[in-house]
Amino acid sequence: MPGKFCFICAMLVLIASHSILPLNANELKEYGEYLSKECSVCHKNNAKTEGIPSIVGIEPDSFIKILKSYKNGTLKNETMISVAKSLDDEQMKALALYFHSLKQPDKTCQKQ
Ligand code: HEC
Repeated sequence: MPGKFCFICAMLVLIASHSILPLNANELKEYGEYLSKECSVCHKNNAKTEGIPSIVGIEPDSFIKILKSYKNGTLKNETMISVAKSLDDEQMKALALYFHSLKQPDKTCQKQ
């Protein structure tokens, strides 16, 4: 039964590629949405700023740069330093893509 064989093959390739290859943009965004629950305790998912800056719509490159600056201590904020230290590069990218996708036009980041 070649049809069934191919189906099983395809599934195996799919499963294998998932664990070996890096996540694609859509998967990263979904991962980012999952990770963002930790952030939305403080950062609300909109452009309003009430003490804590909004992080919606920041260019992904800047977003990652900011998180890395907290992680290496260039940007000094105790809370964000400990948050950033818990994130690896892929998680930062996932969060950057997710928060960028919630884009609202009037947000510009001060720390670029
Ligand atoms: C306990 C509260 C808290 C949590 C949780 C938190 N943040 Fe923050 N975040 C802050 C505060 C406060 C600032 C402003 C710090 C400063 O002035 O440098 C900030 C700043 C930032 C900035 C810079 C924004 C700007 O415009 O300068 C980014 C990006 C950011 N946070 C991302 C995240 C991400 C991603 C997460 C989740 C993984 C997260 N934060 C979780 C409180 C928090």
